[in-house]
Amino acid sequence: MMIKPKFYISILLMVGNCFLLQPLLAEQLLLPKPLSSSDFIITKKESVKLGQLLFFDPILSGNKNISCATCHHPDLGTADGVSLSIGEGGIGLGDKRVSDVNNPPDQIIGRNAPALFNLGAKQFTSLFHDGRLEVDESQANGIRTPLGQSMMMGFNSVLSAQAMFPIASPDEMAGHYNENEISIAIRKGQVAGKEGAWNIVTQRIQNNPEYVNLFKQSLATIKQADDIKFTDIANVIADFIAMEWQAIDSPFDAYLKGNKTALNTKAQAGMKLFYGRAGCSSCHSGALQTDHQFHAIAMPQFGPGKTARFETSNHDTGRLRVTGNVKDAYKFRTPSLRNITLTAPYGHSGAFKTLKEVIRHHIDPIKSLKAFQMSNLVFPAPNANNTRDPQLVSQKEIEKIAGANALNPVELTEKEIDHLEVFLQALTDKKLGGGHLGKPKSVPSGLTFD
Ligand code: HEC
Ligand code: HEC
Repeated sequence: MMIKPKFYISILLMVGNCFLLQPLLAEQLLLPKPLSSSDFIITKKESVKLGQLLFFDPILSGNKNISCATCHHPDLGTADGVSLSIGEGGIGLGDKRVSDVNNPPDQIIGRNAPALFNLGAKQFTSLFHDGRLEVDESQANGIRTPLGQSMMMGFNSVLSAQAMFPIASPDEMAGHYNENEISIAIRKGQVAGKEGAWNIVTQRIQNNPEYVNLFKQSLATIKQADDIKFTDIANVIADFIAMEWQAIDSPFDAYLKGNKTALNTKAQAGMKLFYGRAGCSSCHSGALQTDHQFHAIAMPQFGPGKTARFETSNHDTGRLRVTGNVKDAYKFRTPSLRNITLTAPYGHSGAFKTLKEVIRHHIDPIKSLKAFQMSNLVFPAPNANNTRDPQLVSQKEIEKIAGANALNPVELTEKEIDHLEVFLQALTDKKLGGGHLGKPKSVPSGLTFD
């Protein structure tokens, strides 16, 4: 009697089932270890309190009209709820922010303002969408920044060194042309040094008796106003961010600590996809869902981009700008997905309004890039008082972004997309609210703030 091919196939399937498929079906997911406060830098209560005041105080901006919180607001998931921010020269908060007719901004900001959750975790050694600020032991102060030589010593961490940037950026906080003493210093190329922008900001703090007192209480090195340095200001702001938005009490954290009912069945199905077949955890790895590496995933681009002032194109080549290596073209840092439900819109240019949209982008990146419409964006009133409408990058640029893509498409059913979304929702620490301290009632400068 002839043995039918069907028979062989069933034997093969049986063998396969036992030896090959079984381990996969056993769902041995490689889940991260739960986080604890020992994974975070240690902060002092007094510094955190002082950092909170500085974070909300417009005194750090050239025209005393914008604070860190304008773009990183606790009511807006520590970001600002729009694709690209209006910085200096704007009025209002979030999607209500419009350009000031009397002092319109030069241009909107080229990248989406990221959320500040969990940046106090020691595993964060690079910051910004392109990681241009990073820990580098070969540097005298252990940090590499594009500012190079003018970089000052005394920053406690990359998070602290980060504060130098928005304060010295004309579009973010410093202001333009001859508007104020800080913008004038920056125009003259004076940022560090005695006459520089950081020193002028520091003098403002030294001249405020309430701040001087608070600094004396916070840092042993400070006996009098003159002792306050720019790095002290940056260090206490970093302490504030690190403590204020530590968000590690989500349903996923409870699940990792052993409470198996903390995730419902849909969230568990989504988690299995995330750490399994959907391949998300190959980049969004570890307890904060990031490998801290850079990947090209064909995110749509628009707006002024990130170019040198003299360039006319509005592209943003991401990590390539930092390393000069063409292999890094259009790579951006894998973002942490903690508190992701609070931080829309998503991507380095804020291209996607909803989690569903950004998940769909991941499962077919090129198709999504090519289908992208500007009407998808979340902006303050478009073209509000003179600010140029953000334009999509050119067709040629879109082809380059597509060519650099390294994210493979993955087949997922609608139900599976739903499950992934429910899992991502379970990464939100709802107990944190706006933060551990929240918004201060007033700030020492007496200036108003959002
Ligand atoms: C006008 C809006 C604006 C203001 C004001 C602003 N930021 Fe930002 N912030 C941004 C944008 C946009 C980025 C991303 C820039 C990039 O990646 O190139 C960013 C990035 C950051 C990051 C890095 C986050 C990460 O995950 O890499 C930190 C930390 C931060 N800002 C803190 C601050 C602090 C502190 C201040 C006040 C001194 C401040 N920001 C003021 C818009 C703003
Ligand atoms: C090849 C690495 C890689 C893989 C695999 C990957 N991602 Fe991403 N993801 C990224 C990078 C890089 C970004 C940011 C890209 C940018 O801004 O240009 C991102 C952004 C996101 C964002 C937006 C976050 C924010 O704050 O803007 C979400 C949500 C997300 N990914 C979820 C997922 C899910 C769900 C999967 C699995 C289906 C997945 N990712 C697979 C690298 C990856």
